[in-house]
Amino acid sequence: MCGIIGYTGNNKAVPYLLEGLGRLEYRGYDSTGIATTQGNSINITKAKGRLSVLKSIIASKKQSTSTVGIGHTRWATHGEPSTVNSHPHLSRNGLFAVVHNGIIENYKELKSDLQKDGYVFRSDTDTEVIAHLLERNYDGDLVSTVSKTAKMLTGAYALCILCRDFPEKIVCTRLGSPLVVCTGDEGTFVSSDTLAISGHADKVFRPKAGEIILLAKDKVSFFNKALKEIFITPEKLTLKSTDTDKEGYEHYMLKEIMEQPEAVRSTLSHIIKNGRISFDSFSLTKQEAEAIRGIYIVACGSAYHVGVSGKYIIEKLTGIPTHTDIASEFRYRNPPVSKNDLCIIISQSGETADSIAAMKKVKEKGAKVLSLVNVEGSTISLSGDYVIHTKAGPEIAVATTKAYSCQLAVIYCLGVYFSSLLGILSEKEQSRLIEEILSLPETIEATIVATRSKAESLSELFTEKEHAYFIGRGTDYAAAMEGSLKLKEISYIHSEAYGAGELKHGTISLIEPGTMVVALMSDENVFTKTYSNVREVKARSARVLAVSTKKHEHEISSLDHCIIIPDCSSLTVPSAEIIPLQLLSYFTALKRSCDIDKPRNLAKSVTVE
Ligand code: F6R
Repeated sequence: MCGIIGYTGNNKAVPYLLEGLGRLEYRGYDSTGIATTQGNSINITKAKGRLSVLKSIIASKKQSTSTVGIGHTRWATHGEPSTVNSHPHLSRNGLFAVVHNGIIENYKELKSDLQKDGYVFRSDTDTEVIAHLLERNYDGDLVSTVSKTAKMLTGAYALCILCRDFPEKIVCTRLGSPLVVCTGDEGTFVSSDTLAISGHADKVFRPKAGEIILLAKDKVSFFNKALKEIFITPEKLTLKSTDTDKEGYEHYMLKEIMEQPEAVRSTLSHIIKNGRISFDSFSLTKQEAEAIRGIYIVACGSAYHVGVSGKYIIEKLTGIPTHTDIASEFRYRNPPVSKNDLCIIISQSGETADSIAAMKKVKEKGAKVLSLVNVEGSTISLSGDYVIHTKAGPEIAVATTKAYSCQLAVIYCLGVYFSSLLGILSEKEQSRLIEEILSLPETIEATIVATRSKAESLSELFTEKEHAYFIGRGTDYAAAMEGSLKLKEISYIHSEAYGAGELKHGTISLIEPGTMVVALMSDENVFTKTYSNVREVKARSARVLAVSTKKHEHEISSLDHCIIIPDCSSLTVPSAEIIPLQLLSYFTALKRSCDIDKPRNLAKSVTVE
């Protein structure tokens, strides 16, 4: 969590910092701050709350002409959101200013050691120790000072540092948290991601853990752990500034819901070529596929829900035992993973701390890891044995939609790929399934058209509710989990998902007259079974909103409310079913006047465990 940015160049720094922080707000938004150098002084402005608060403070002051600065947007870990805890943090004598993304695990020991030396702490943060350590370790050389300081830290960090003695420079380093350096005609930038800089630079460098980077307005120098200068070849920065526009939509979430057909089309265009599935950086031989004993899908949140669908889909198509785990649980148990297993880590951001830790665990056990990631160049994307990139483009709303749909599309492809390799599918069946997958963009488009206004009007049912339950079986159960998460995270209505057959083992006691139950009924295998469970909640006077395919319109239209999605194949129906649930959550949150793109307490990139 937290986003950091830095700029040095010939132009004024503050506009770049503020624009970048706006684009980084998805990483945390409980406080913000910037530091700029002017002559030999460092000026800091910071504030509790959204970036708009900081902007109005800056607007009320004399305009800064500084051309060098760093900035931070925070998701609090150590210390409550407050002005004093927000970054940048200054060292004791104001020699250094630091912004930090990550967690310093040994900060307590470092803090008490510094306190013994007379350092007085102003904030409750772990970051402040870094500022003071820099000052205590200062030897007149930025690179060696940062190196010495970084060696004392354990945990994860991406750091951007200003020093009063070098007012035109920024020095940075990283371990475990992301950091990119970008250059172009406008100057030199550093940030947590390229999105913050898109439109202003054309080259991107991706520093490795432990490297130290010295930024000057027209030069970037990289140093390895031995402080030897190294030369890195940059990649071309392809993001455009329009990638971060709302393009007329009121919220990024709605824009991203509408972008799903195109995002899925783009993802599939890299995977299905000439009617065959082949991945750019993942392939197995028939023997390797036959040797797979089990598949472990590990992820967090919505990405985990894709994994739950994946379990049903991959097991059905391949017969390979498929286990889906929440990364934060998986990493602390002792899963019986061996070198004969394949682990799939699913992540939009590619920076989720628990998923990274789970990945390490799997690798230690000798299993191969396939990363399924949206953000190219992210830690998970770079650390797997194989990688498949979803091509959702930048996803800015905290609640995921288009990345989820792209991940699901890749799961279908993987199921068909494994099954074909294992000789389970005939050529004809394979082609039929690939055709079905290829029609996904149209299916999603048609579902948006068919369900948008119904979802909008039915959202009225939820706006005054305190609780809702989502039920389903099979892939409908995965959709129930995702629909429930979407609703609660952006509208703050308490909501739970249950396997429909599981309700009667406890949860049904919560059903009262008028309780909202959303019944997902698109998985053909279990339609009649879920229907029986719907009857059970109806018998207790629940208010049921059923979602199913056109084929079942007749059966479900007798329920209180229904949303009909177009008929589609049993393989791809989870992609259609999720659309009205995304829209329902969006419109409910809109009617409840919630902050849809930035729900309270959340951040898009969860880089702490
Ligand atoms: C919910 C949501 C989160 C993420 C989760 C994992 O809408 O977006 O639950 O799915 O935090 O994040 P990634 O996919 O970046 O690993």
